[in-house]
Parts: sequence; structure tokens; C-alpha cells
Amino acid sequence: MKRDLISIRDLTRGEIEGFFDLATDLKHRLKQNQPHPLLPGKTLALIFEKPSLRTRVTFEVAMTQLGGHAIYLDPQDIRLGERETVGDGARNLSRWVDGIVARTFTHKLLELLAEYATVPVINGLTELLHPCQVLGDLFTLQEKRGRLQGLRVGFVGDGNNVCNSWLFGAAKMGIHFVAACPPGYEPNRDVFAKARAEAEATQATLKITHDPAEAARDADVLYTDVWTSMGHEEQRARRMRDFQGFQINQALVKAAHEDVMVMHCLPAHRGEEITDEVMDGRHSIILDQAENRLHVQKAILVMLLGRPAQTPRQGWFKTLTRIVRASER
Ligand code: CP
Ligand code: NVA
Repeated sequence: MKRDLISIRDLTRGEIEGFFDLATDLKHRLKQNQPHPLLPGKTLALIFEKPSLRTRVTFEVAMTQLGGHAIYLDPQDIRLGERETVGDGARNLSRWVDGIVARTFTHKLLELLAEYATVPVINGLTELLHPCQVLGDLFTLQEKRGRLQGLRVGFVGDGNNVCNSWLFGAAKMGIHFVAACPPGYEPNRDVFAKARAEAEATQATLKITHDPAEAARDADVLYTDVWTSMGHEEQRARRMRDFQGFQINQALVKAAHEDVMVMHCLPAHRGEEITDEVMDGRHSIILDQAENRLHVQKAILVMLLGRPAQTPRQGWFKTLTRIVRASER
């Protein structure tokens, strides 16, 4: 059975920790200039309906470093659902490539792609979720603080795809997550309800407020993202008005824990959701966060694409151990 990565909700905590262990190992090998071609001869297709710097480059570099290859397909190349049905496109691609990363406008299109493709499909962002981003973020915090359980994260801004994935990630990993959004820009209700249902088991707490100061109070992490996500550009003027006050600036940083770490998924609109001073200041871990997209996505690729045909009784991690050991021989 192939395994997709559509949402953090579909992963167990153990699987997330497995990604992080492997990402740590791969990051170490890269820094030591040790080759780690765990996906020789494998090809990854990248389908992007929207622009990207980080996601595209990190997946392409990841495949190169793992000894495989990536093919970038821009919207004009394939036009899934227009030039041919999503099913036909997915079934064709599955005959040639070993995995697909897709960045789509609608979440439904990604789900359809995953349904028809017989190779793993990885969510490279939809209007609903951005799981690879948040896995990279969680890994970064794990690295910086040595733990995730009990951390306090204040998200300030739009209850968008990144915020939705954060709800799932926080619920899974036992994080106290407060999202401060202007009225009308709260995270997806269904996502919130599902994440909350999971939070009980991990002692995570999830809260939505309209007060940025509440998100900042005692926060170990302050997180923000653009006020206007891709696909909502026509709302930009209205959003610029509605989001006034939902900025991470020096005053908000002062309201948080003295060692607060500031995060942003990027791209940033400096002077809007975050000031230059904070983005480039001593609390910012934004570039580490961006770097870690590479290491975590390499772990995801190895886990999803590196699995040889296996019996249902063999879990991912047994297989993973075999792959890593084989590469060390
Ligand atoms: N954070 C992120 O996904 O960036 P890109 O849109 O540049 O891929
Ligand atoms: N919320 C942003 C994230 C970009 C990586 C967007 O969807 O445009």
C-alpha cells in the first residue's frame, strides 16, 4: 500500500518522531559531507499551481542529495482537470515517477490526485493545509528546545493553511497553541474541531482569540504568516485594513517570554505581519526554519518513496531501519 502525506492528522506521533530522527541523521550527514543516496534512481514529480521558492527548491535539492531526480511541472504544463482528467493525469504520472508533490489551489484536487495516483502524493500546500511547513517548524523547535510537549506557541494573523496545519501539529505533539486572528479570519472550523478532539489525549490545548496580546502571553514561540495568502489577492485591500494590529513587532515580542523564538513560514511581507526589526532580530529563527524544510522533507521522501514492496505486517519503521542500515554498508 502506498502512503501519502496529505495532512499531519494522518500521521501518528511516533511517525512524526521517526521523521525527526531521520531528519537529524540526514542533516548531520550533509553537514559532514557524507553522501546519503537513499533514493537512487527515484524520480519525483512536482506539480505547482501556485508560485514557490522554498517548497520547490527544497524538494528538488532533496532529491538531488538523495541520489534521485525531480521534475518540475508548472501549471501550464499539465493543467490537471482541464487538459485531461485528474485521474488520467495521476494514473499516467504513476507509471513513470515514484512520487508526486503537489501545490494546488483546492484541497479537493490534491485529495483526488492522491486517490488516483498509485505512487505517494505529498501535500506541498493547498488552501487548507501546509503539512510539510509545519513538520519543518516542529522539527526546528524540537532542535532548539529539545522537546515539544508543553511548549506555548502564539500564532498571530490569518487562520490560514499554515495555522490549520499548526492546529493538527500542536494537537499531536502536546503543544499549547493560541491563534489570534481578526474576527472572520479564524482557522477552519472542521480542522479546529478535529484537532481539539485529538488534543485531549496529548494534553495539548488549542485556543482561538481575537487578541494578539493573549497569544503572546508567556509564549515560547511567536508565529506569523502573510495576511493575504496566494489565491486571495483580490481581498488584499480589505485584509490590509482588517489585520491592523495583528503584527509581530518589538512590543509584541516584549509581551512574550523573554527567550521567545519568532517564526514565519515565509515569504514575508515586511512591515505588514512582521517588522524588519523582529524578522532580523535576535529572537528570529526564521532562516533555521527555512533550512529545516530540506532536512525534514528528505526524511519524508525516504520514508514514503524508499519503501520497497513490503508485506502489510512490515511497518514503515522496520523498512526505514533497513534502508538506513543498507546505506551505511
Ligand atoms: N513556506 C513556503 O512554503 O514557501 P514557498 O511558498 O516559497 O514554497
Ligand atoms: N499562507 C501562505 C503560505 C505560503 C507558504 C499562502 O498560502 O500563500
